Amino acid sequence: MHYFPIMAKNIAVIGTGYVGLVSSVGLSDFGNYVTGVDVNESIVESLNRGVPTIYELGVDDYLKRNLESGRLKFTTDIDRAIQAADIVFLAVGTPQSKSGEADLSQVESVVQSIAANLNGFKVVVCKSTVPVGTNRWVKQRLIELTGNSADGPDPAFAVVSNPEFLREGKAVQDFFHPDRLVLGYEHDKAREYMEDVYRALNLIHVPMVWCGLETAELIKYASNAFLATKITFINQMATLAEAAGADIHTIAHSMGMDGRISPKFLHPGPGYGGSCFPKDTHALVSTGEAYGVDMSLVREVITANEELKLLVVDRLLKMAGGEGSLKGKVVAVLGLAFKAETDDIRESPSITIVRRLLDEGATVQAHDPEAIENFKALFGDEVRYFAHEFEAIDGADAVVIATEWNEYRNLDLKRAKTVMRGRLIMDARNVLEPEKAREFGFEYKGVGR
Ligand code: NAD
Ligand code: UGA
Repeated sequence: MHYFPIMAKNIAVIGTGYVGLVSSVGLSDFGNYVTGVDVNESIVESLNRGVPTIYELGVDDYLKRNLESGRLKFTTDIDRAIQAADIVFLAVGTPQSKSGEADLSQVESVVQSIAANLNGFKVVVCKSTVPVGTNRWVKQRLIELTGNSADGPDPAFAVVSNPEFLREGKAVQDFFHPDRLVLGYEHDKAREYMEDVYRALNLIHVPMVWCGLETAELIKYASNAFLATKITFINQMATLAEAAGADIHTIAHSMGMDGRISPKFLHPGPGYGGSCFPKDTHALVSTGEAYGVDMSLVREVITANEELKLLVVDRLLKMAGGEGSLKGKVVAVLGLAFKAETDDIRESPSITIVRRLLDEGATVQAHDPEAIENFKALFGDEVRYFAHEFEAIDGADAVVIATEWNEYRNLDLKRAKTVMRGRLIMDARNVLEPEKAREFGFEYKGVGR
């Protein structure tokens, strides 16, 4: 049985953070009627005015355009949004709990709301990253709470696991041109609804992986853990290359020429950060424990990544003259976000780097084009913040480049030399040319070269 005609869907997206906002503007751009829901009133108010609450390239244009079309709106009224929806997307947070596993309390709260407002058939789509078994739990919980069935010819609802693979900084591009869509489902009616929702992507031949709920959930964790492993591998190789006098860039480039390896995610740096790799690797280890499977490789990646973040300051200490040599020194930290093109500082390597520099007795002068406000919320006036990188460098004994913002790639070294007190550069993102930096009289250290 196939279901015609193709129709725009009424969609509620619960949670309007990175994933929820990008999904809301994207799904409405596909012609669906979307209501984005958030518990945070100021987010909702801002989004309804067309002002994005996250820094993400292109999201403002899509937001304005779809608000104006009348297909997109935002509310705090979750009950009405669910009642009006054919499809409810969950895009709430699944942060790491103290024990390492994913905290599913936001998901649980939304499931309660769906149960209370199930006034007709709805597809419940989980976009949040959730441990294997969660979608089955959602299904069971809705059956218990509503007394309805999700199977047979006339189900009251259906559950879909549709993990999201977007990257911050490239979220809009990733949403509109994903490598694939993963759709875990059980009931054909759910598949038909999802085919309509994603018709725009199907038309441009985005591969759609239709699979079971558990498989979809694990695809997401496997992908993130694999990428985290790949980064950690190249970072450890970088440490070895450094010790052996080899160049990690040539190594990574040559490895990447092998199609089986691919050049992507082989950039050495200060260790991975962000809102997802750290929490998702921990959650995968916890899931393994729950199933009696030792995810030993992922455990090692987590440990190694923590050590790699500390290594940045170790390298600087070595240049500065060893243990205690940064006491009373001024260190400029360029880049606070966990990567370029975002204001997100969640699990940013800069947090570890700055904390360690402060512990070493250094004064930290920080710059970031977008993330200063978020960093301030964490470090307050322990750190001095500057709107321009040259103000941060002014009077510094050393510079640490911690995020690969474009504006640091062409850092005016001549000017830097005139304003700095010292000559040390620790380039944790390898954005500068080592020879050029040395020509200008700097003592330069990168990662793995
Ligand atoms: P986020 O913290 O930016 O946003 C979550 C939003 O949900 C917040 O605005 C919060 O106020 C809201 N919220 C919480 N409880 C709510 C409730 N009961 N009702 C309505 N709103 C509620 O989170 P995020 O970064 O967008 O991540 C969301 C999920 O997507 C996570 O599971 C994450 O792992 C996954 N994910 C994130 C990314 C990313 O790049 N950030 C990429 C892929 C997947
Ligand atoms: C990552 C994944 O790339 C997305 O596919 C996924 O959807 C998302 O997590 C998620 O589940 O939330 P994101 O965290 O936004 O996206 O950013 P990445 O570009 O993956 O970078 C993560 C971290 O790895 C950053 O700290 C980055 O600097 C670092 N990284 C990345 C490297 O050090 N080297 C690389 O080669 C690539």
